Amino acid sequence: MKNTVTTFKKQKEENSKISMLTAYDYSMAKLIDQAGINGILVGDSLGNVILGYEDTIPVTMEDMIHHGRAVARGAKDALVVIDMPFMSYQTSVYDAVKNAGRLMKEGLGDAVKLEGGREVCEQIKAIISAGIPVMAHLGLTPQSINAFGGFKIQGRDEQRAKQILEDALLVEEAGAFALVLECVPEKLAKLITQKVSIPTIGIGAGKYCDGQILVYQDMLGMFSDFTPKFVKKYANIGEIMQDAFRTYHKEINEGKFPMEENTYKIDDEVIEKLY
Ligand code: KIV
Repeated sequence: MKNTVTTFKKQKEENSKISMLTAYDYSMAKLIDQAGINGILVGDSLGNVILGYEDTIPVTMEDMIHHGRAVARGAKDALVVIDMPFMSYQTSVYDAVKNAGRLMKEGLGDAVKLEGGREVCEQIKAIISAGIPVMAHLGLTPQSINAFGGFKIQGRDEQRAKQILEDALLVEEAGAFALVLECVPEKLAKLITQKVSIPTIGIGAGKYCDGQILVYQDMLGMFSDFTPKFVKKYANIGEIMQDAFRTYHKEINEGKFPMEENTYKIDDEVIEKLY
């Protein structure tokens, strides 16, 4: 059954947890979809884990559209949310609607996600008025990494915790259908989850959120540049892949690959004529 913004809302009402993972290509989206994960985020984390940038700032609309389309083709049942990249919505309400529209029309997403609270509420309202569902994102918002001065937990002091709580209520009022909470203390995420009627999707925000999301390379042990404390490694696929790559390299050198069963034949009389 196709997951939609309505089924996400129903899951919160019925206290049934929402599972989400990131994906950036067709094959991975298909595997995630077939495993029954409720939602796939084409995150601008692709800047880090796919394109090798230090942060998400250089990611473009074209990058998001290119990867969004690939994921959408692989995801049959999962709700596909595409991240709005840095400076595609902060500049004006007009830019926000235009770029959200491109992510739906060209990126083939089911919804878009943008970062921020009160400062992007006008953008959220306008995008929703255009018929596009919006997922909000509060706490550690990686596009503001330079303003935060690094990847730091958000909302530990009273002023910042109050600001995040107020922002959660404001993005809900603006019409967001769900809210990602990244790197905030568990008790703050619990309070926000109780106060808003839209589902909260946590990443480094503890167990009381209505759902969870992880970057698939982190949870599969495929990305070693840095691993945040909130990541649980469900498998060590990186090691398995490296073993396979080493064996492949060795077998090529030893003449063990390709074998007869990996090879195409031609009749001897045909080939002999060419000598
Ligand atoms: O870009 C991304 O992967 C994200 C998740 C970390 C929520 O925004």
